[in-house]
Amino acid sequence: MTIVANKPEPIVYELGAPGRVGAVLPECDVPLTPLPAHLTREELPLPQVAEVDVVRHFTRLSQKNYCVDLGIYPLGSCTMKYNPKINEEAAKLDGFTALHPYQDPADAPGALQLMYELQEMLGEICGLPGVTLQPAAGAQGELTGILILHAYHRSRGETQRHKVLVPDSAHGTNPASSAMSGYQVVQVKSDARGNVDLDELRRLADHETVGLMLTNPNTLGLFEEHIREVCQIIHDVGGLVYGDGANLNALVGIARPGDLGIDVLHSNLHKTFAVPHGGGGPGAGAVLVRRDLAQFLPAPVVVKKGKQYAFATPKKSIGRVKSFYGNFLALVRAYVYLRLLGKEHLARVAEDAVINANYLLARLRNTYHAPFGDRRCKHEFVLTGTPFVEKYGVHTLDIAKRIQDYGFHPPTIYFPLTVPECLMIEPTETQSKESLDEFADALLAIAQEAAANPQILKDAPHTAPVTRLDDVKAAREPVLGYHS
Ligand SMILES: Cc1ncc(COP(=O)(O)O)c(C=O)c1O
Repeated sequence: MTIVANKPEPIVYELGAPGRVGAVLPECDVPLTPLPAHLTREELPLPQVAEVDVVRHFTRLSQKNYCVDLGIYPLGSCTMKYNPKINEEAAKLDGFTALHPYQDPADAPGALQLMYELQEMLGEICGLPGVTLQPAAGAQGELTGILILHAYHRSRGETQRHKVLVPDSAHGTNPASSAMSGYQVVQVKSDARGNVDLDELRRLADHETVGLMLTNPNTLGLFEEHIREVCQIIHDVGGLVYGDGANLNALVGIARPGDLGIDVLHSNLHKTFAVPHGGGGPGAGAVLVRRDLAQFLPAPVVVKKGKQYAFATPKKSIGRVKSFYGNFLALVRAYVYLRLLGKEHLARVAEDAVINANYLLARLRNTYHAPFGDRRCKHEFVLTGTPFVEKYGVHTLDIAKRIQDYGFHPPTIYFPLTVPECLMIEPTETQSKESLDEFADALLAIAQEAAANPQILKDAPHTAPVTRLDDVKAAREPVLGYHS
């Protein structure tokens, strides 16, 4: 095979100069062996920079960024909680990082024990004893879950089932996962209180229903008030209830989805169980199922035989959904978080997450319109900027841009789609009252600015390194440089 390398365009770097180096390597003390010619290049246009240039470059970049270690990150639906640093310490231990996926599992009993105990803890927390740790994210957990529903119905010869019911308050990945599994997605409307409309659900559920995908609490931050009835309606037609448990932060230690009637659930360990996420980083979307569905779980799962831990393949496994064993170091972080918190303190997470959200809602709802403000929210809530559009021509995007000038990360905006000009706010339990107040004060000040000087919002942000980008163009034609 001949590899023809395109000659790269000469690159001009703003930093560095020929001959500058950032590292001094020791004399080579082994015989030099030339690399195969087809793997090498004449020129490698890398910047030539001193160590100090590199350090300053990355420090400067990090200071232009915003992160959860700097302040509130109220990105609704993302549960951007503070992640204790001890999780990182544990995930850095050589015994974990030096493991190789092809290693004989018998050489890694500690890793297997950790996975087994994590399976057990999650199963207990969710009231669903069958657990796989394989999926790499919530959305992959959903796909896994729907494939389990598929395998269950097939095992019963019920191949006529082809539609998945998805409420309009579901997370966007729910209809996407159903569609990716080859099923027809049928939307179920919400009622005036933000719950699933029961009459509509009864009308739509029938012998062709695979199941319902229920995000609970839903994307409006509301707990489904008729959860048992909703599950009953689906069970009565032979369907299964898939719970999107990514919002478990509102329930953890207080309510167990399995006890509420959910049959299959995924949990975003990278949200509820303090695994860092964002920027597409590795996550973990464990899937939990009721006991009789455990036979369909992806392989391998970890089992305990006597005092030994081993991998096993469930009897009617849907197969593998990810290479090897999932994002193992994400599992280590979730395990450490849970062990340090302890069973007795778990409910505090949900209690504080819910109190914090309700406190913020109470501070904001007289200024920003809260479409479901008469209900207690769970861990997050939605506001609509529609009155600002009508009165001042200011949009939710302008409000989100302006909040950056106050030093905060904006909330999620324009999601869920059912709320026009939506702002979706999730403070999480790891914010103090002072930081909630600072954030609320900023949003209230912005509301006053909208009335007094709307242009200041429309031109915002005024302090960020970049202001309003054309998102598509910025991704396709990035301008990477200090001076451009
Ligand atoms: C309710 C809900 N479901 C599903 C997902 C998808 O999870 P992931 O981004 O890990 O794929 C999210 C993401 O935050 C979510 O908030």
